[in-house]
Amino acid sequence: MICYKPILFSAVQPSGQLTLGNYIGTMRHWSAMQNNYECLFCIADLHALTIQENKNNLKESILDTLSFYLACGVDPNKSIIFIQSHVYQHSQLNWILNCFSQFSELFRMTQFKIKRNIKKNSIKNTNAALFNYPILMAADILLYQTNVVPVGRDQKQHVELTRNIANRFNSLYGNVFTLPEPLITQYGSKIMSLLEPNKKMSKSDVNKNNVIFLLDDISTVALKIKNAFTDSEKPSKIYYDKVKKPGISNLLEILSAITDKNIDVLLKELEGIMYSEFKKIIVDCLSKFLSKLQKSYQNYRHDESYLKKIAYEGALQSQIKSKKTLQNIHDKLGLISLV
Ligand code: TRP
Repeated sequence: MICYKPILFSAVQPSGQLTLGNYIGTMRHWSAMQNNYECLFCIADLHALTIQENKNNLKESILDTLSFYLACGVDPNKSIIFIQSHVYQHSQLNWILNCFSQFSELFRMTQFKIKRNIKKNSIKNTNAALFNYPILMAADILLYQTNVVPVGRDQKQHVELTRNIANRFNSLYGNVFTLPEPLITQYGSKIMSLLEPNKKMSKSDVNKNNVIFLLDDISTVALKIKNAFTDSEKPSKIYYDKVKKPGISNLLEILSAITDKNIDVLLKELEGIMYSEFKKIIVDCLSKFLSKLQKSYQNYRHDESYLKKIAYEGALQSQIKSKKTLQNIHDKLGLISLV
């Protein structure tokens, strides 16, 4: 009997430098997931075009991201790693799904509202792709008959939208798309800013002290953690409560993720210590973790011909899979095939 593994799709947008938040929320889980799922790991470069950066930065960012995938343990012999723009089927399905998406449901997307707010709530300077962004995400996911999508909590709504679009299409044309489930870990799926722990740690934050970048050097990390916001509860006590103690809870989530220890276990170990000692422990663990990751990253990043070979092979494999889905959709829609 052939036993098929469920299909997992994940992607990261290659814009700016990856953060500890990206690692903890998403990439940390990838290595283990390869054993339980048939995995596709995508570099969402078309999504990155919604933020207009200069093109050299984008090229670098794509290769940087690919190197981080490999450094995080994604194995090209077990999983498909590819760059979104290499697989034209994504753009094509994106258009088709636009025809099955409602303006009103896109308008409800929290991420769109947040991104629009950054631009002073002005529609004038907001490109249409920012609005349509979740439809391209839906195309990414649905092309591969994906079963699960590991996402941070902020992206969960986009997976729900994907399900709605798929349902709408399926109710008209039969079972064309598999309905994907979001996979969200209990802790750490949303790492918060260091100085403002009520907002998400984001690579585009203007205040870099809010963010730990995966390529930050150790002394920078130590300073950022030292200055991280805690609270003024007296006597100070370390416990997990996102509402009363957002700073401490965020630091606990970070420590838990990089040490692979449950928060309850950590709380027992940390009992009675001061915030400053707690921070020292975090810096110690982060230094060990980051120096190992950075070393492996640099090894891959210096070998561009290897990176390009991986991307090429990944594109060929994903094209085969996505062509199959797209062909079926074309048939259902009454489009005439070329051959
Ligand atoms: N929008 C995601 C992010 O910014 C990246 C992404 C693109 C993605 N396509 C996807 C994530 C499909 C999951 C599934 O993090």
